[in-house]
Amino acid sequence: MLTAFLRLASPIRLARTALVGGTALALAYTPMAAQAKELDVPYVPTPPEVVARMLDMAQVAPSDYVIDLGSGDGRIAIAAVRDRSAKGALGVDIDPARIAEAEANAKQAGVSDKVQFRNQDLFDTDLSQASVITMYLLPDVNMLLRPRLLDMPPGTRVVSHAFDMDDWDGDEVAHMGQRVVYLWIVPAKVGGSWRLEHQGQGSAAGPWTVDFQQSFQRLAGTARAADGSTLPVQGRLRGADISFTIGEGEKARRYTGRVDGQAMKPVPGDGIVQGWRAARR
Ligand SMILES: C[S@@+](CC[C@H](N)C(=O)[O-])C[C@H]1O[C@@H](n2cnc3c(N)ncnc32)[C@H](O)[C@@H]1O
Repeated sequence: MLTAFLRLASPIRLARTALVGGTALALAYTPMAAQAKELDVPYVPTPPEVVARMLDMAQVAPSDYVIDLGSGDGRIAIAAVRDRSAKGALGVDIDPARIAEAEANAKQAGVSDKVQFRNQDLFDTDLSQASVITMYLLPDVNMLLRPRLLDMPPGTRVVSHAFDMDDWDGDEVAHMGQRVVYLWIVPAKVGGSWRLEHQGQGSAAGPWTVDFQQSFQRLAGTARAADGSTLPVQGRLRGADISFTIGEGEKARRYTGRVDGQAMKPVPGDGIVQGWRAARR
């Protein structure tokens, strides 16, 4: 997938090529996260209509706190507060000239009380307050950030203009002409063994032992009944929302629920199993 990126012409990739002085050098360029004063990504602004789509996809609302990593002139952080009434936003940029520009823009937009800009290396930024992370960086920078993003609370939304995160598929991908926007919803961590119980008796009488193998938001695995028989499990996470099937074809039983730490509970819905609960073994 990375090779596909290297073939992809994009304004930001062309700008990085210019930044380091030529194609050969650009391909050999390595981000220098430890050297705080180097630019890991050149400045290229996101067009306003793409900013709007990023905020739409992340469903930015008044309860959100948005952090834009590499905030440039501040347009994403400012739009989150000005246009979506986010309760607050932070932009971080390593270039002090960009911070000064962003602060002036926030003042002009009348949102200085809710938007903060910080001259900081994005690799040093505390992300713990964010419910939404926005980025227009580069594939290798995204990949360096990926472990930290995956460790954020389930349901945190991450939107990236132009670049993906390799085998962590986007939960949504929007194409706008040549531009692409990716949305990820940080999945709950459910890999491992769970005890699944149903109320009362019936065809689902258990308990079952469900072993989930998790790859980002995708789930596979096995369910083992008390009599030792096994059935395949397939599923998916969207933040803390989980859906999975036990068995295959017409006999598959569909479960939809919510993960809360070491427990899962069903959500109401047609055609899905009710009256169950699961706990980590
Ligand atoms: C492509 S621009 C994106 C600007 C803005 N987010 C937007 O979409 O319009 C990337 C920004 O990241 C900043 N940047 C590059 N390396 C950085 C680093 N290590 N830490 C913080 N900011 C960095 C650059 O100064 C630049 O403003």
